[in-house]
Amino acid sequence: MTQQLPGTTDPVLAAGDEPQSNASGNAYFGDILETRLSRRSLLRGSLAAAVAGAMATSLPFGGAFAGQGGRGPSLGFAAIPTSSADSVVVPEGYRVQAMIPWGTSLAEGTPDFAPDNGADDQAQQVGSHHDGMHFFPLDGRSDEGLLVLNHEYIEPRFMHAAAAGLALDSGGFPQLADGSRDADQVRRELHAHGVSIVHLRRDDDGRWHLIKDAHNRRVTGLTPMRLAGPVAGSEHVITRYSPDGRTTRGTLNNCANGVTPWGTYMASEENWAGYFANRAETIDRRQARYGITRRDTSRYQWHKAAGGADEFLRFDATPRGGSAAEDYRNEPHTFGYMVEIDPFDAEAAPIKRTHLGRFAHEGVVFAPAVEGEPVVCYSGDDARFEYIYKFVSARPYRAATADGSLLDEGTLYAAKFHADGSGEWLALAPGENGLTPENGFADLADILVNARSAADTAGATKMDRPEWGAVDPASGQVYFTLTNNTRREPGQEGAANPRANNTFGHIIRWREAGGQDATRFQWDIFLLAGDRDSGRDANGAPLDDDAILASPDGLWMDAERRLWIQTDISESVMNDGIYEVFGNNQMLVANPESGELKRFLTGPIGQEITGVTMTPDRRTLFVNVQHPGATTEASAFAAGDYASHWPDGGDAIPRSATLAISREDGGIVGA
Ligand code: FEO
Ligand code: CA
Ligand code: CA
Ligand code: CA
Repeated sequence: MTQQLPGTTDPVLAAGDEPQSNASGNAYFGDILETRLSRRSLLRGSLAAAVAGAMATSLPFGGAFAGQGGRGPSLGFAAIPTSSADSVVVPEGYRVQAMIPWGTSLAEGTPDFAPDNGADDQAQQVGSHHDGMHFFPLDGRSDEGLLVLNHEYIEPRFMHAAAAGLALDSGGFPQLADGSRDADQVRRELHAHGVSIVHLRRDDDGRWHLIKDAHNRRVTGLTPMRLAGPVAGSEHVITRYSPDGRTTRGTLNNCANGVTPWGTYMASEENWAGYFANRAETIDRRQARYGITRRDTSRYQWHKAAGGADEFLRFDATPRGGSAAEDYRNEPHTFGYMVEIDPFDAEAAPIKRTHLGRFAHEGVVFAPAVEGEPVVCYSGDDARFEYIYKFVSARPYRAATADGSLLDEGTLYAAKFHADGSGEWLALAPGENGLTPENGFADLADILVNARSAADTAGATKMDRPEWGAVDPASGQVYFTLTNNTRREPGQEGAANPRANNTFGHIIRWREAGGQDATRFQWDIFLLAGDRDSGRDANGAPLDDDAILASPDGLWMDAERRLWIQTDISESVMNDGIYEVFGNNQMLVANPESGELKRFLTGPIGQEITGVTMTPDRRTLFVNVQHPGATTEASAFAAGDYASHWPDGGDAIPRSATLAISREDGGIVGA
């Protein structure tokens, strides 16, 4: 029996990040001698030559590609320096409020956070590890709305009174003497995952307050949900819980988010594979291609909860019954999707939209909807050498009738980036790009459940961990962060992933050739993250002290076209070695036209900055701080010596929380 913990020993991955599992023979572009980066370097210093070259070859070099007209948005604040302090820093003239930390009670008469909280308490509290989010205004207001936020994972040692004094690292958890886990602890952990819907109002004092009323709601790792789209009802998702393959329980590892054109919220399921054990002799591609190996362990050992309740046993995918309807061999196939939640309808079950594909979904970002045109959205699969995807709906968008069923019929594509600056979308559909029964793809459900394998077969381009995407509301140009990839070897560099041992990551962007639903595009590299030596802005110029960054992850473009960039340097290397110069994780803002880049915010110790949204008037910016104190060593934890006490200070347990940021003069944030 292989006993392999689904964590990581790699210093540049964070605990729980997906391991590399792409063994396909797809090209790395290692045979391409002249990358686009080197072309740009050759051309830099001669703008005329660059423009002439771009026009002659239709190649989108640097500024020639950016030109959507105008100078782009102002960045009117003074950049702040990097920081290693245990605090949040914003520019002069700004104020920041930390609110709704993990464990905040959402219902009258229920307790706020305490280490001896139980599972039932957590079910009515804000979850842990805040991530992607969106502000849904009530009645169009900018001082009242529903903030919907993801809770990516947990740090069990900070959750349970039973963990006190134990030498636990950030992924560690208390176990019973026989190796099982306390069932109430496990249920509490499931409730700390998922999504929170939180009713907020800004009072005359300018501070945001939680309103405890019926709007507040939790979606957790136990909430019943529907499957929709081609995988629903297929053999792949038949379980003991759902013999007809139409439902499942819970959503996990919700990382980035999306907002549909019809006003619902989309939560992604990213690093779910680690939550499953499977002791079968052979693990088929529906799990092996996603990193599930033959093992009796899982990330938090939920399948070993004492008492063996069905809601915990399902995390062991070992076949044990006579058929799939008698066990949970298919449970992992009910995860890896985008989950649609209607924040205004507490009665509606969340829906997993399977046509958007099954992978380590970082998130989804929609292009602006156009009446009568298809709905288009983009997703990244965050693991090394995985792909970027696009979905185009079959039916056109009609504002009067649009709903999530638009996401159940259409075409999923994977991106192929060519060295000449062009690109194409490869349809992952029956009969297209080698996806035939002869090649092992029986039908559309088979393709979507096995989206990674389908993209391998189609020949998509292996990327450096695709994270968040952003769409320029004015131009429709798409930006994606590629956070890092230290496993890309010399010789595996490509035009779109130009650096071997990509320790710092980059941002790519593209423009569709024609309508947003086009199958061809032109692309460029917007930013090479790095220090003053290795970082390059959109013009190929080195980054200055106001702009150095590493591991770009969160990404969002606001209505005035400011591109907000958030970093996720792994807690295992933050403030250490080549990463020391960047300090704690941070948020910056870029002008998409000029490439100007300035640091706007730095976070406390051990955390990552992730999740960003604004009120409609753009006077309040919400940002999440995830896993402060994750850098606490096991021995320090045992001694009660936490690396961070943010946000409460003193001796407090560090907790993820949301920031509300505004200007003292009431102006637009970032302007
Ligand atoms: Fe959850 Fe890819 O960051
Ligand atoms: Ca992320
Ligand atoms: Ca992370
Ligand atoms: Ca990340």
